[in-house]
Amino acid sequence: MKDQNIILETERLILREKVVEDAPFFFELNSNYNVVKYTGDVSFNNLEEAENIVRYVINQYKENGYGRWLVTEKETNNPIGWCGLKFHTDTKETDIGYRFLESAWGKGYATESAKACIDYGFKVLKLNRIYGQAMKENVNSINVLKKLGMTYLREDLCEGHDSYVYELKKENFK
Ligand SMILES: CC(C)(COP(=O)(O)OP(=O)(O)OC[C@H]1O[C@@H](n2cnc3c(N)ncnc32)[C@H](O)[C@@H]1OP(=O)(O)O)[C@@H](O)C(=O)NCCC(=O)NCCS
Repeated sequence: MKDQNIILETERLILREKVVEDAPFFFELNSNYNVVKYTGDVSFNNLEEAENIVRYVINQYKENGYGRWLVTEKETNNPIGWCGLKFHTDTKETDIGYRFLESAWGKGYATESAKACIDYGFKVLKLNRIYGQAMKENVNSINVLKKLGMTYLREDLCEGHDSYVYELKKENFK
């Protein structure tokens, strides 16, 4: 694989930019219904669809300077999911997002990686506010938002489903 652009390193994880060669991993990740259940996404029909999504994210890195990153586990060097900040061109706001293999849940990986992203967002990208949104039923995701120090803002729709929006402002970031 060509040079990998590492963005962040935590105690147990490495976050780097996605490359098209990661597509088989994303195909596998989304093939589990439990993983996509509360995301509004469905499984990919083929590898080409997964590759196109990666190209879309690579374009975000170029246009906005950041996007969702691949998370690999240091201990095994295996990809386990993605986590990162996404700039929404319509609202000019940035949100935090994450998605992990079911086998990687319950280890604190989502919180560990998202914390590093939030830190990067405020300190390096100089953002003033980061928000997170999760469907009401997505208890695990809402727990992560709370552990990041985010506070409840309002209800909204996420892919047509009732959801909660949480936010963290720079002045409240510790
Ligand atoms: C949402 C999602 C990323 C949450 O993952 P998760 O593993 O539950 O989240 P965390 O990283 O916070 O880890 C959870 C648990 O790991 C446990 N844990 C085990 N070892 C740990 C460690 N060394 N450090 C920290 N926590 C640890 C903790 O007890 C924690 O639970 P608690 O906060 O209730 O005590 C995961 O469910 C997922 O990928 N879902 C599918 C995609 C999705 O819905 N994404 C969000 C869309 S809005």
